[in-house]
Amino acid sequence: MKLVIGKPLGFCFGVKRAIDELERALGRYGEVYALGSPIHNEEEVKRLISMGLKLIEKVECLPPNAVVFIRAHGTTPEIFDMVRKKGSIVIDGTCPSVKNAQEKARLLSKEGYNVVVVGDPKHPEVQSIKGHALGEVYVVTSPKDVEAFPAKDKIGVVSQTTQEEGMLLAIVSALVPKSRELRVYNTICKATLHRQETVKKLASETEGVIVIGGHNSTNTAKLVEVAKKEGCDVLWIAKSDEIDEDWLKNKSIIGIAAGASTPDWLINDVISSLSCR
Ligand code: F3S
Repeated sequence: MKLVIGKPLGFCFGVKRAIDELERALGRYGEVYALGSPIHNEEEVKRLISMGLKLIEKVECLPPNAVVFIRAHGTTPEIFDMVRKKGSIVIDGTCPSVKNAQEKARLLSKEGYNVVVVGDPKHPEVQSIKGHALGEVYVVTSPKDVEAFPAKDKIGVVSQTTQEEGMLLAIVSALVPKSRELRVYNTICKATLHRQETVKKLASETEGVIVIGGHNSTNTAKLVEVAKKEGCDVLWIAKSDEIDEDWLKNKSIIGIAAGASTPDWLINDVISSLSCR
């Protein structure tokens, strides 16, 4: 069996930067609190917990003067304030591309635009972007959501950084008849785009693509979606023991892709497990 390894693969610069900072903080302070999972990859979270990471869901659960890590998805200004008021040391791992989307949402709302965020309303990054805009924010996931959208004079659009470009385009087109003035910031990050292009190429060059990444990872889910749209046979696994022998049968050339939140050690484990077959 021949493996075609996609490039880029695994951690994007934003996740790498955040995890490097978290590891440094764990080395320095021994114990670091994270509000929610610092990365959408269970295996990597287990490794960080073994180093001293503590997961909490609410600021109220923080002990006084704790060290607090803000994940790459960012958080709202209100949460930042609450954490600081507790006397915490803040390690801000917010990805610069997410900060850009947050700033654009704030700018649009300040300039009187009704802000639309294209993305998953439940995703922590979308919630952090929403939190930076002033006033009401609409989150849409598909052009269908726009049908019920009230017409507005000014609409300003930003996107979740991991959104698929085709979906942003479709939603923007649907918004054209709903507004007299439409301003769009394409805040999809380059790391996301490059990984989606890689998966498209793998889909056309191989008999099937294995996408490695947490089952709760949005950017990995998008890679799977992109490959499926290309008509590709896709296997989504979080780690090597999820490799499906039936899926491998009769395939002589397989592509390997990984989400931006998948660590190298997990990817290497899958590759070496496949190389032994
Ligand atoms: Fe940042 Fe893009 Fe990664 S937004 S965290 S570089 S997927």
